[in-house]
Amino acid sequence: MCGIVGYIGEADVKEILLKGLEKLEYRGYDSAGISVRNDGELKIFKEAGRIRDLRDKVDSGFHATTGIGHTRWATHGEPSVANAHPHQSADGRFTLVHNGVIENYEQIRKEHLSEMEFVSSTDTEIIVELIAKFSRDGLTTEEAFKEALDVLHGSYALGLLDREDKDVIFVAKNKSPLLLGKGDGFNVITSDAMAMLHLTNEFVELMDGEVVMLKKDGITIRDKAGNTVERDSYIAEIDESDTEKGTYEHYMLKEINEQPAAMRKIIQEYQDEDGALKIAPEIIDQINDADRIYIIAAGTSYHAGLVGKEYFEKWAGLPTEVHVASEFVYNTPLLSERPLFIFISQSGETADSRAVLVEVKKLQHKTLTITNVPGSTLSREADQTLILLAGPEIAVASTKAYTAQIAVLSILAQVAARELGKHITINLTEELAKVTTAITAVIDDAETIEELVHEYLETTRNAFFIGRTMDHYVGVEGALKLKEISYIQAEGFAGGELKHGTIALIEEGTPVFALTTQEKVNLNIRGNAQEVQARGAKVCTIAMEGLESENDAYVIPNVHTMLTPLVSVVVYQLISYYAALHRGNDVDKPRNLAKSVTVE
Ligand code: F6R
Repeated sequence: MCGIVGYIGEADVKEILLKGLEKLEYRGYDSAGISVRNDGELKIFKEAGRIRDLRDKVDSGFHATTGIGHTRWATHGEPSVANAHPHQSADGRFTLVHNGVIENYEQIRKEHLSEMEFVSSTDTEIIVELIAKFSRDGLTTEEAFKEALDVLHGSYALGLLDREDKDVIFVAKNKSPLLLGKGDGFNVITSDAMAMLHLTNEFVELMDGEVVMLKKDGITIRDKAGNTVERDSYIAEIDESDTEKGTYEHYMLKEINEQPAAMRKIIQEYQDEDGALKIAPEIIDQINDADRIYIIAAGTSYHAGLVGKEYFEKWAGLPTEVHVASEFVYNTPLLSERPLFIFISQSGETADSRAVLVEVKKLQHKTLTITNVPGSTLSREADQTLILLAGPEIAVASTKAYTAQIAVLSILAQVAARELGKHITINLTEELAKVTTAITAVIDDAETIEELVHEYLETTRNAFFIGRTMDHYVGVEGALKLKEISYIQAEGFAGGELKHGTIALIEEGTPVFALTTQEKVNLNIRGNAQEVQARGAKVCTIAMEGLESENDAYVIPNVHTMLTPLVSVVVYQLISYYAALHRGNDVDKPRNLAKSVTVE
């Protein structure tokens, strides 16, 4: 949700910023801009739209070595050039990029800047004007910056340029992610290490409330009290090639195809030398001490949590609740005596989930984050972390992170069950290996799945996904995937629930995807499919081998009953991909969305 980069050094900064922003475009892509320091002036280039549009606007006929850049996902104010960052103070002295939301910006405007005319409708412009005002009042830039931060309520990652001080970028953060990157003769800032890997893999974490003076040959970090903070850097273990599209037309297709490799990596890394599944003992202790698990997540990660609940309850006998983060924080249920909170988040940055984490930490409850991004906010702030090992996920629509989340949850629940002395009936390592082969088979059959799109989704404006138990959970994920990238209105329903209202929407030709992988409800869901077919629906039944019948549209390989979501979802991922492709949509960057949602 908005991406920030900054560079100070010797090289021409314009290309560095544009390249970094291209890598951050997944965080927001409705407008973008850069500000660079040249000949004692702060130049700004901005454009509504994508980085490629901005690139066309940037004047290449000069050399600048200090700059900041931003790619935006609009929160306050429509996507437009005026609202794009960087924002410049009216006196021309400062330019600023901001990721986050300032909650008290109206109040600040009234109290401190009532005489000002604003050119944008963003909450960011008030920050740069506030800094400019404090500086005109006689404070140094560092003092003015700190004074302004004291007034702000909300979330922010900030990069500030001062026309009068060519040697520094001022940086601060609160709740929004921001990293400092170290190089030889240069330093950088970035919302995500990935965006600056072409320059450095050495990064320094920044904590909430700290202020940084970034120079080309040094980084000074000060805490709230003004003390200088010494912090070690770390090496980001990301291969730059993992973030490239390679020969694939889209990141989403690449990431769907990477699922077998991610499964293999998870099986390998979560196994000890004797082939037994392993999880850090501190994490298992957390689970075994808990009397109830609360899974907190959003979107696709929430859907993975629904499957995870089955594992904790059925294998480890642990009562488990799954909650949408944005609701939980304002409507907390009665908690058990010894709750364990598990946060599932691909990015590890989702503000809704973090808001819950902050609250439950105040209550001193135990917390565990399951994320794809080591060092992410949720990972740093929870007591423990499990890493998904799926590799960078760039496409906005989550695919490999979802299957990795389910696989890691299954391992976690299985090891907990073992340590709790539960009767184990599944050889999970073997079954996950079968899943890997089954996913590969589905991916290899992508052309057949594309045909289903021609048959069922080419002209429709809506679609339904029905299933029971595990298949219901996959249905809601299938519907989310389809709507977010194809813009077809889609809903996932428990098959038995349709007749209680939703069936009224079924018309002649309405596509209904019916998934059946669970023997105990196979006949029930087939009955539900008949009910909609009798009312004109075009039913596409997807069955698991062993449960198939003559008119099924697609059959997935047979895997363990508890693991079928890992395979069936791949069919829905591919259906969604081709539906979006056939409609000419931007598959990797669907409208109105961003990959990492860092506002509540
Ligand atoms: C959908 C999707 C979103 C995310 C949600 C949570 O394809 O990607 O629904 O799952 O925004 O994001 P994370 O998992 O990063 O917390």
